Amino acid sequence: MTPDVLITGASGQLGWELERRAATKDRTAKAFDRANLNITDADSIKRIIETNAPKVVINAAAYTSVDKAETEPAAAFAVNRDGPANLAAACSTNDIPLIHVSTDYVFDGTKTGPYNEDDAVAALGVYGASKLAGEDAIRRHHTNHVILRTAWVYGVNGQNFVKTMLRLAEKQSALRVVQDQIGCPTFAGDLADAILNIADHFMTDTRPTEGLGTFHCTGIGQTSWCDFARKIFELAAPSMGDIPTVDGISTADYPTPAQRPANSELDCGKLSRIYGITLRPWQEALAEMLQITLSGDSHAAKETR
Ligand SMILES: NC(=O)c1ccc[n+]([C@@H]2O[C@H](COP(=O)([O-])OP(=O)(O)OC[C@H]3O[C@@H](n4cnc5c(N)ncnc54)[C@H](OP(=O)(O)O)[C@@H]3O)[C@@H](O)[C@H]2O)c1
Repeated sequence: MTPDVLITGASGQLGWELERRAATKDRTAKAFDRANLNITDADSIKRIIETNAPKVVINAAAYTSVDKAETEPAAAFAVNRDGPANLAAACSTNDIPLIHVSTDYVFDGTKTGPYNEDDAVAALGVYGASKLAGEDAIRRHHTNHVILRTAWVYGVNGQNFVKTMLRLAEKQSALRVVQDQIGCPTFAGDLADAILNIADHFMTDTRPTEGLGTFHCTGIGQTSWCDFARKIFELAAPSMGDIPTVDGISTADYPTPAQRPANSELDCGKLSRIYGITLRPWQEALAEMLQITLSGDSHAAKETR
């Protein structure tokens, strides 16, 4: 059967949510993990897109190891630049819209206040540079695209900051977390809903005139990693018993191979104005994710929608 949406990167945080949420709504979806569709393989992409003839392609596949990318630039660029280029070329040939996901790490973090879509990009590390190259490749190959830049993604499935904090709390009574990097935590489930909402506009021909191009899409509100951690433990406390103390430290006290932007808050006003899509305040979404994670009920994500 011809699916409405074809999803790549199905075993990742976002791809997992996309597959589940697409299936719960009034549309059909076909999702591919890396083993079934490697986006660096242009021939496979061509064949799978031509065989399935979806109405919309959503790319949730990416090389996301920010620190490892510093020593594996070829691997990062192969997935984050060449993969989107392959998808865009195949979508262009078959006249299929492509929704692609990018990152706040395309910015250098020196701006005061939230970044909008027209602000100058200047990635600090290999991961950000490779995602930026992916954005450029899509713009070059295929006009019919939406690039959604998101940030600080955490989901029920996969590894992320929230789960790292919960795991560390099992062993440590005091944690030190960076307090001078600001961003917008984004629940993968909310991001998936936003993407599927955009896909619906393409499938029903209700896409707004200005609905192509680059948009920012994150949870509403900004915080530091340190205050994010404090909120995680505040919300998780009833299920956890003892919670650790969280002390703020500076980026300089926690050196990492990749430099990260000090400010990566994204202004999501354009997505709201043009598509009418606004994600929840990040604290609300975090409460839902923790409830699902701590109850061990990963299926609740689709049942609560
Ligand atoms: N995580 C964040 O904080 C964050 C922040 C900003 C933007 N983003 C962007 O949001 C999107 C979704 O991220 P995520 O958090 O869901 O990432 P994720 O959990 O790391 O998932 C990425 C998925 O891509 C798959 N993949 C890697 N190489 C592939 C290839 N060559 N072909 C096909 N699939 C491949 C991975 O497969 P394996 O499971 O086999 O490795 C993984 O399942 C990405 O575009 C990412 O850059 C993420």
